Amino acid sequence: MQAKRILFAAFALGAASLSFAQANWPTKPITLVVPFAAGGPTDVVARTLGASMTKSLGQTIVVENKLGAGGTVAAAAVARGNPDGYTFFIHHNGMATAPALYRKLSYDPLKDFEYVSQAVDVPMTLLARKDFPANNFQELQAYLKANASKINLANAGLGAVSQLCGLMLQHALGVKFTEVPFQGTAPAMNALLGGQVDILCDQTTQTIPQIKAGSVKFYGVTTKNRIKVMPDAPTLHEQGLKDFEVVVWHGIYAPKGTPKPILDKMNGAIRAALKDPAVVQKMTELGAEIVPDSKLTSEGLHSWLQSEINKWGPAIKASGKFAD
Ligand code: MLT
Repeated sequence: MQAKRILFAAFALGAASLSFAQANWPTKPITLVVPFAAGGPTDVVARTLGASMTKSLGQTIVVENKLGAGGTVAAAAVARGNPDGYTFFIHHNGMATAPALYRKLSYDPLKDFEYVSQAVDVPMTLLARKDFPANNFQELQAYLKANASKINLANAGLGAVSQLCGLMLQHALGVKFTEVPFQGTAPAMNALLGGQVDILCDQTTQTIPQIKAGSVKFYGVTTKNRIKVMPDAPTLHEQGLKDFEVVVWHGIYAPKGTPKPILDKMNGAIRAALKDPAVVQKMTELGAEIVPDSKLTSEGLHSWLQSEINKWGPAIKASGKFAD
């Protein structure tokens, strides 16, 4: 009887300190894992949101760039991470394409995480090095078809949206390029600027400054409609690549088992960041669109992820592009 009482008291004490920790969260810096290189598109979104959330949460959001295998190294680490409320993860479409691209994925994107919120949608742009011998999309298509075997296409590895976009481009043109993988499109962009690679499909969050500076050749955007920030820029769809569309969406996740009260507070901080005028201005300048409120929920992210897995899985499997 005595032992039972002690056990109950210990249990009650443990439960009380757990709920105290959740009520007071956050009491130390929070890690936000980014699966690609610092300075690249995902990193820009993470750091922009993180700076605002640091203010509203009163604790620093520390961005950790965990690189490798198109984002799957970071996703696997977060799936096995400590669910204490101090680890979060931002990832894009790669969360949905990885199950079709990787035969041996150590995590299940739909089961092994907590789902916090979506955040922003980002268009992509098709670029070439500045001295590339094609001055518009029609010339580009002709050149790429005639010289496919000589073309180096940069991307951020299997599972990256740059790789997905490049794969769709090759499929649409009926050609095969040499793919040159980097650990993010920040180093891929450096290689393009340095003339070591020929073409790159990359997100406006990184490419708009380069396009405006004229340091790359720019052929069009990957959205179905023109984008507000560059209304003169034609889409690839309107230039003849019918129905070509890649939009980069972002989800924020936590290790499975992270307490719901913490997930709810994190969700509130993300919503607040997306209303912060400094965030809105920066996202708008970089072509990123803040998603509607219906996508800023755990359920909204989970069902979106499911629909994206259903959308991309069969097409990727049909392309025969796999990693072991
Ligand atoms: C990055 O941040 O480097 C990109 O999101 C990589 C990509 O998926 O193309």
